[in-house]
Amino acid sequence: MRTHYCGAANEALIDQEIVLSGWVNRRRDHGGVIFIDLRDREGVVQIVFDPDLPDVFMTAERVRNEYVLRVRGQVRRRPEGTENPELPSGQVEVLGLELEILNAAEPIPFQMDEDDVSEEVRLRYRYIDLRRPQMQQRIQLRARITRTLRRRLDEQEFLDIETPMLTRSTPEGARDYLVPSRTHPGSFFALPQSPQLFKQLLMIGGMDRYYQIVKCFRDEDLRADRQPEFTQLDMEMSFVDEDAVMDVAEDLIRELFAQILEVALPNPFPRMSYAEAMQRFGSDKPDLRIPLELVDVTDLMRKVEFKVFSGPANDPHGRVALLRLPGGGALSRKEIDDYTAYVARYGAKGLAWIKINDLHAGRAGLQSPILKFLPDEVIVDLLDRSDAETGDILFFGADKARIVNEALGALRTCLGHDRGLVERGWRPLWVVDFPMFEFDDKENRWVSLHHPFTSPRADSIEQLTDKPGEILSRAYDMVLNGTEIGGGSVRIHDPRMQQAVFDLLGIGPEEAREKFGFLLDALRYGAPPHGGIAFGLDRLVMLMTGGASIRDVIAFPKTQTAACPLTHAPAPVGDLQLRELNLRLRHKP
Ligand code: AMO
Ligand code: AMP
Repeated sequence: MRTHYCGAANEALIDQEIVLSGWVNRRRDHGGVIFIDLRDREGVVQIVFDPDLPDVFMTAERVRNEYVLRVRGQVRRRPEGTENPELPSGQVEVLGLELEILNAAEPIPFQMDEDDVSEEVRLRYRYIDLRRPQMQQRIQLRARITRTLRRRLDEQEFLDIETPMLTRSTPEGARDYLVPSRTHPGSFFALPQSPQLFKQLLMIGGMDRYYQIVKCFRDEDLRADRQPEFTQLDMEMSFVDEDAVMDVAEDLIRELFAQILEVALPNPFPRMSYAEAMQRFGSDKPDLRIPLELVDVTDLMRKVEFKVFSGPANDPHGRVALLRLPGGGALSRKEIDDYTAYVARYGAKGLAWIKINDLHAGRAGLQSPILKFLPDEVIVDLLDRSDAETGDILFFGADKARIVNEALGALRTCLGHDRGLVERGWRPLWVVDFPMFEFDDKENRWVSLHHPFTSPRADSIEQLTDKPGEILSRAYDMVLNGTEIGGGSVRIHDPRMQQAVFDLLGIGPEEAREKFGFLLDALRYGAPPHGGIAFGLDRLVMLMTGGASIRDVIAFPKTQTAACPLTHAPAPVGDLQLRELNLRLRHKP
């Protein structure tokens, strides 16, 4: 139905007859001449309809925005002065010789160039939203990204293998999406939170190198970078240690950035321990583009009178840290109050501060609500350790280390953006040496930082069980500009070690057998050492396209409340269907 894409019309085609098909971007009547900008995937071209061809002209008069047309016409140079340098096709236009209306369109619910269309409306009419040039570019870039990834992985002998969607719960830390079984009344499939166990079984099955671009399902609280169904680039390799997996993974990302964005990422990526990341940035996914760091002052605060500081300073799980904002002395009372409210969202009970009005004027040069609580020598040490300068502000966090890290870590990012401190460019890094377990105070038990199949950095089960809190894991996260884009680990391949980890997590032998018996069995039949990683593909594409949310790079995303405004899923089902599935609702909605 066409010879060329609209966006491909250019000077090389002048005098040629071409056939185009597409949507009416805009129609203008100009004193007897009709101009139609015709649009398709590749761009826009101007078509001119002249009254000298009355049949064609009369059809053109009936055309409205978003009508679907097929046009035969002759390419010609635009008259001087009417060129459009903004358009790749802007030097030419097409004289319409034949026009067929393939389909009409009702007036659309928003205009193509309208900026403040609500997301609800954009998602309800996603097929119209997708016609917009920006969405076209994002979705096309996404396809180029997956193509590049697949090509590279194919070259490296990875096998693309599918794993089941109807399966059992895989513990990645979220709630499951469940699917009731009709043939097994009262039983449910779980949609996979990741293909974790299947990819391990593939290694035990001798596949050696696996990858898959795969949907994962997690019922969790949604944010800009979280969707209930999202896509992973999932990989697993046999006979590898962490360095081998990390080499392959970072090579893949370097290749991707070189191919798609012509950006040279560092080789190798820097590595940072979890402990250092928390200490310096209060986060295990630090954005290294922001030149602010936390400074630990716990030791300085042990003896101060101010209970707010001395309490956490003397608590083994406590921390007192400060964040210096250069030039922050100019912040207003209101701005400081707003930042105090901001950190409160992360559980901080306050945000003490000191303004350095004159570094060399002693106490008199400082302004702060907490100055009276701090002895001279502590103040001297504080200023020295934080490299404070006249004009700066120091913000303090004092609490359980977890709260201080979350609050000041978030404040660091927030200040970086508010104050225009975010440097340009790409700052990847690996975060390594995660603790194997974290103690959950509320539930009074150990929980995995990654998942329970991650290998501990322990030589023996005794070493693991002796001091679980001190054991590190063989896990690694890839972080890019403050977003965790991937994570993985070397896995446990010894069934006894696997059971020991389950035991520590409070999953006794019976429960382990019931839930993961198939894995424990498989580990006993010759499991090779193996490890892998999964990338959040949507997040990667979001970063590479400069999008603010992964919803912008998913053709049909869900809203923040995990619903689809286009199809109105999820939706109630009829009684008959429920009966077939052996289900009864406790409350009729
Ligand atoms: P993990 O749970 O860290 O690891 O997930 C891997 C990557 O997937 C992305 N991601 C998400 N993206 C969008 N929406 C979500 N709800 C979401 N959740 C996670 C992140 C994350 O880094 N099986 C392990 C991998 C392994 O050990 O090999 C796993 O799934 O970018
Ligand atoms: P208060 O004595 O409670 O008025 O607190 C004095 C200052 O300390 C105020 O600026 C509070 O915002 C701040 N503050 C209170 N609790 C904390 C905390 N846990 N961490 C940091 N600053 C705090």
